[in-house]
Amino acid sequence: MEFNVKSGSPTKQRSACVVVGVFEPRRLSPAADSLDKASGGQISSLLRRGDIEGMPGQTLLLHNLPKTLADRILLVGCGRERDIGDKEYNRIVSSAVKRLNETGAMEGVNYLTELNVKGRDLHWKIRQTVEATRETLYRFDTLKSKKDETRRPLRKLTLMVPRRSDLPNGEAAAREGEAIAEGVSLAKDLGNLPGNICTPGYLAKQAKAMGKKYSKLKVSILEQAQMEKLGMGALLSVAKGSREAPQLIVMEYKGGKTKAKPTVLVGKGVTFDSGGISIKPSPSMDEMKYDMCGAASVFGALTACAELQLEINVIGVVPACENLPDGAASKPGDVVTSMSGQTIEVLNTDAEGRLILCDALTYCERFEPDAVVDIATLTGACVIALGRHASGVMGNHHPLVHELLNAGKSSGDRAWELPLWDEYNEQLKSNFADIPNIAGREGGTITAACFLSRFTKKYHWAHMDIAGTAWVSGENKGATGRPVALLTQFLIERSTSKK
Ligand code: BES
Ligand code: MN
Ligand code: ZN
Repeated sequence: MEFNVKSGSPTKQRSACVVVGVFEPRRLSPAADSLDKASGGQISSLLRRGDIEGMPGQTLLLHNLPKTLADRILLVGCGRERDIGDKEYNRIVSSAVKRLNETGAMEGVNYLTELNVKGRDLHWKIRQTVEATRETLYRFDTLKSKKDETRRPLRKLTLMVPRRSDLPNGEAAAREGEAIAEGVSLAKDLGNLPGNICTPGYLAKQAKAMGKKYSKLKVSILEQAQMEKLGMGALLSVAKGSREAPQLIVMEYKGGKTKAKPTVLVGKGVTFDSGGISIKPSPSMDEMKYDMCGAASVFGALTACAELQLEINVIGVVPACENLPDGAASKPGDVVTSMSGQTIEVLNTDAEGRLILCDALTYCERFEPDAVVDIATLTGACVIALGRHASGVMGNHHPLVHELLNAGKSSGDRAWELPLWDEYNEQLKSNFADIPNIAGREGGTITAACFLSRFTKKYHWAHMDIAGTAWVSGENKGATGRPVALLTQFLIERSTSKK
C-alpha cells in the first residue's frame, strides 16, 4: 500500500476515485461542495432526494459526475461537523477505506483530511489516516489454505493537504504513519501466530532478520548456558517445564550519538502461557499465545524507529520462553535465586511474567540506561481494572510515566497510571525467601509492578501492563498491535527533545 501527499482542487483530480465528506444533516464538506458546484448541483440534488444523510459510516458511490476528471466520487458520512473527535475521525476514514477497497478503484484521492478534528492538526490527521487505512486493510490469513482476496484491492491512496506549503509537513506525517503501521502490523502478525509456530526460537530468528534488514540494528541472542552463567535463576525456572529453549534477545538500535545513554524497552515474550503446574482453566487458554505481545510491541517499536531512522539509541530486550507443566517444571513453593541475588518463592507458577522480566531488568543495568520501560501482558487484574481501552502504567520516576501517558494521548493509543505506593509493596511478604511472586488478589496489577520495582532501583523505570489492550477476544479475535503507536511516539519525542 502506497501513500502520497498532494495539494489541489477536487475537480482537477484524474483519479479512479475522489473521496469527500458529507455532514449530517445533508451538508457538504468544502471538497464535496466544489465538486457539486462544478457538476451543476448534482450532489446536492442527491442529498435532497435523501440518498445520503451524512451519518457516520454511510457511504455513497457516484459515477461520471459531470465536469470532474475522476471516474468515481465516494461520498462519506461524517456525522455532525462539530462532533468529530479522534474516535469519529478514525471511524470515518475506516468506512471510507473499506468501501474504496470494494469498489475496484485500486487508487483514490482522499479529501477527508480537510475535516476539522477537535484538538488535532493536519500532521495528526495525515498520520492517523495512514494508520487507520492500514488497520482497516490488515488481514491475517497466512495460515489459511484459501485466502479470500479482494479482486481489485486498494493499492495507492493520495492524501490531500490544503496548500503547497503544507506538503513537507504532510509528507513527514505520512512517513510517520507508514513506519508506525509497519511496526503495528509486525506486532499483530507475531501476536496472531500460534504457539507452535511463534516459539522463543522463532522470535530470535525474527530479531536476526530485523538485524539484517536495518544497518543500525545490532542483534544478539543469549542462550541458556549464558543465562546460567549470569545467574538468571528466575527466568530459567519458568523455561524449565518446556522443551523449547529460552532465548534472551537483545536488539541495539544505534541512531543517536555514540555516548548518548540508551532508552531500553523490555518485552515479555512468553510464547505460550499454560500457567505451568498452577495450570489455567481450559476456556480461552488459546489466547495465552498472546502472552508475547509485550515482546511483539518491542519488535514493532524498533521497526518503526529504524524505518524513521530516529536519532536516538534504543535497546530492545526480550526474554522469551514457554510456560508449560511437565516433570521438570517449577512447582509451587519452589525457591529460586534471581540474577540480582534476591531469592523468590514461586507460590504460583502462573505468575511467570514477573519472573522472566526481573532477570531481564537486572540485565539492563549493564546498559547504563537513560530509562527502561517494560511492556507485558502481566495480569488479568489489569483487564478488570482498566478494561480494554487503556494500558496500565506504573513507574519509579514521574517524568518518565508522564512521557508515556502523553505519548499515549497524542498517538491515540491511551494509557492510564496506577499508584505504586509503599502500602502495596508491603503486601509482598514471604516466610521462606526474600519475596514471593504473588501477593493476593487485591490490587494484582499493582503488586505485580511492585515485584518488578524491586529489580529496577538502579535506573528510571516504568512498567506497562497491556493485558487488556494487546488483543481482542470474541468474534474478531486478533492482536491489536498496541502499544506500538504509543512507544513509537515516546521514542520520536525523546529523539527530538533531548539529545
Ligand atoms: N499472562 C497472564 C496474565 C493474563 C491473564 C493476561 C489473562 C491476559 C489475560 C499472567 O502470566 C498470569 O497468569 N497472571 C496471573 C497472576 C496471578 C497468578 C497472580 C493472573 O493474572 O491471573
Ligand atoms: Mn501466567
Ligand atoms: Zn503470562
